[in-house]
Amino acid sequence: MDYTQHFDNPPERLNTNSAKWDQLQKLFGTEDVLPLWVADMDFAAPQPVQEALKKSAEHGVVGYSFQSEAYYRALREWMKNKHGWEIEDEWVVFTPGVVTALNFAVQTFTDHGDKVVIQTPVYPPFYSVVTGHGREVVENPLKQQENGEYVMDLEQLEQALSGENVKMLILCSPHNPVGRVWTREELERVDELCAKHNIIVVSDEIHGDLVFEPNRHIPYPMLSEQAKNRSIICTAPSKTFNIAGLNTSNVIIPNQELRDAFALKINNFGVGHISQFGAVATEAAYTHGEEWLEQCMRYMRANMEYVQQYIAEHLPEVSVYLPEATYLMWLDFRKLGMEQADLVSFLLHKARVALNDGRAFGTAGEGYMRLNVACSRKMLEEAMDRLALAIRDWREAPQQTAERENSLQQ
Ligand SMILES: Cc1ncc(COP(=O)(O)O)c(C=O)c1O
Repeated sequence: MDYTQHFDNPPERLNTNSAKWDQLQKLFGTEDVLPLWVADMDFAAPQPVQEALKKSAEHGVVGYSFQSEAYYRALREWMKNKHGWEIEDEWVVFTPGVVTALNFAVQTFTDHGDKVVIQTPVYPPFYSVVTGHGREVVENPLKQQENGEYVMDLEQLEQALSGENVKMLILCSPHNPVGRVWTREELERVDELCAKHNIIVVSDEIHGDLVFEPNRHIPYPMLSEQAKNRSIICTAPSKTFNIAGLNTSNVIIPNQELRDAFALKINNFGVGHISQFGAVATEAAYTHGEEWLEQCMRYMRANMEYVQQYIAEHLPEVSVYLPEATYLMWLDFRKLGMEQADLVSFLLHKARVALNDGRAFGTAGEGYMRLNVACSRKMLEEAMDRLALAIRDWREAPQQTAERENSLQQ
């Protein structure tokens, strides 16, 4: 089946209680913006997922459910075929989301006052899942190279991990927002360091299926026996198949001791379940969703290349590095020389596009904004034209000329 029409003409999302589309006034103070922020896609879920949901709804009885052998088989096969990772059924713990899992991992494996390392800039809840429980964040800032690519600072990581009371690393693999797929070399070094300093690794692999060729996502436990024994892997079909509203995640923990502790904590709060609809959608997605995903990835890749090309041709004030994974682009607006608050306001009120504020990802996000390209090409073209017009007006405003020349020279 050819899904081009499906991606070119996504369903209208206004008035569907969409977090992305229906809260613009509330969150951004204006409705006259194109929503290109929160990380969901504008596309409908794959047809087999929709059919499984309909079938379940049509049956009409939504009593208590459990995860069938077919569910586990779908998950096992997906991990094996997609990532070469052979998992066992009993390794899986269910949570109603990856952020829930991150919170519970921090609660389970660290104590009040302990420290947790994160690699910044990073998905904003990585901060709050630590500080929200009275733990302390230790930053291991990523290093941005000349060409815009980010790499891990492995020397600083060793310092960070060897600090007093440092117990955990929360890894974002692949990384949101910088779009890196960590290489085997990088991950192996992380593994060595975490083993040496006795650090538990929580690897958020929610974007692991959204990787562009020739990059390969390596599930953390596949690195080594020690990696397998000290890690908690957060996976979900939510980003991959655009079903985040079903609140369904599979947290995979090969080590029984860690798994039992995590499961106990999560069950003590009564949240170690996924819903009937989440389960049927996940099973259908993992069993029949590959073709849709392949085409979706191609569409989003083309969207990213379009943005990159457009910026290269029309927007010398903006820089971007083509991501290796995710459908998120990390745009560098520093050459505009604006304060972050002014940049945010300029994009909302002059360009009329709603992006994520780079500052939410940490201080290293100053001057950056995150763009979500999981939308129709038409909408993305409109967004880029709006951006180009706004920057042209800014460029031509006489009072900006001196500032602009200054910042472009830097
Ligand atoms: C790295 C990362 N983790 C977790 C989430 C959200 O997970 P969930 O909706 O399952 O809590 C996101 C969503 O953007 C994400 O980018």
